[in-house]
Amino acid sequence: MIDINKYDFEPIAKKYGTPLYLYDADRIRANIKRIKDAFEKYYPKTEMHYSVKANNNIHILKIFKEAGLGTDCSSPLEVKLSRIAGFDEKDILYTGNYESSEDIKAIFNNDICINLDDIESFRKMIKIGKPDRISFRINPGIGRGGHEGITTAGADAKFGVPYEKAYEAYKEAYDAGIRRFGIHMMTGSNNLEPYYFAEITDKLMNIAGRLFNQLGCAPEYVDIGGGYGVPYEDDEDPLNVDVTAKLISEALQEKCVKYNLPEPVLKLEPGRYFVADAGYLLTRVISVKKSYKTFAGVDAGMNTLIRPALYGAKHRSFVNGKEDNKEFVNVCGRICENSDIFGQNMFLPKLEAGDLIVMRDVGAYGYVMASSYNGRLKPAEVLIDANESRLIRRRETDEDFLTLLEE
Ligand SMILES: Cc1ncc(COP(=O)(O)O)c(C=O)c1O
Repeated sequence: MIDINKYDFEPIAKKYGTPLYLYDADRIRANIKRIKDAFEKYYPKTEMHYSVKANNNIHILKIFKEAGLGTDCSSPLEVKLSRIAGFDEKDILYTGNYESSEDIKAIFNNDICINLDDIESFRKMIKIGKPDRISFRINPGIGRGGHEGITTAGADAKFGVPYEKAYEAYKEAYDAGIRRFGIHMMTGSNNLEPYYFAEITDKLMNIAGRLFNQLGCAPEYVDIGGGYGVPYEDDEDPLNVDVTAKLISEALQEKCVKYNLPEPVLKLEPGRYFVADAGYLLTRVISVKKSYKTFAGVDAGMNTLIRPALYGAKHRSFVNGKEDNKEFVNVCGRICENSDIFGQNMFLPKLEAGDLIVMRDVGAYGYVMASSYNGRLKPAEVLIDANESRLIRRRETDEDFLTLLEE
């Protein structure tokens, strides 16, 4: 496993070039084990699905396959990637948003657990075929995420069936002859508070209890989504997954007793928790400008890692091989947007052209959100496993970019 206090990132940067995403396979495995062990201890009927949207490289997916997890997909392509990585349909979950008939046709399969975003999606689905089982993503009316942009439930959220309409949605499916149900929610990403997960589980179980007592069908599974956070700053504590698992399973079990429900399978769809701290972005300083402030321009940009520009996210960074002589510097990319700033007033060793900056915690929602804006193409991805580095996605080239253009 990479120990950032000792590891020399320079040879990798020289070998594969920069900007570069580097992932640590052992760190991903350790993250999987920590959360899997906790849930297996408190609620053995837990099924873990890795949320592919966090990092969709097939070689990363294979680590999850080997660890015995399933996947959670949000598009037909993510289902295809899961199949290529070796996952069976029965291990795949699908949670869409504003599903089109084309999407539904592409993913329709009775082995895949499909969490529909709306009653309208069910109406589209039933025209395509009658599923054996159906589940709806419910907006329980409350949500919380590390930033506003990653809060995915509550009155302002575009996702899911509002809980006041949940009964109507399931009743429509029931009237269409469906008797096997699941229930789903995903209320926000990057939460570090165990009690929050218990609170939303309790809320979802109240909806499940009422709903299924009215219809007489108990949910086969209760899917409480992802959202398990990681610390992005030194003063944040990591999520206590043991307490989280304990509180969630207590909330679930209490409500099963209260509503006389058989214990359902508990499904989880973490993305960030598994991969965020296993990823590093390696970028080189191109030049340092003394303007009204000091700016260090690097060869990565908001096109490489958009989280700082999009959410004001912070990524702790250090300079490979340099520790002393620190000063405040604004680290920015080369994109023609003034929001192309990785960090303002970062306290880093005095930078010079050629220095290698390593940004931490970029394994989730990093490469997957990269673009070729400004004609700055997507970086390469490298995996370190058993001390061996391996290119797992090559750098985008001008030819790749040009291939899509019509004559
Ligand atoms: C439906 C669904 N499941 C799982 C996730 C993964 O969330 P996280 O990476 O916060 O665990 C998301 C993220 O947006 C999501 O929308």
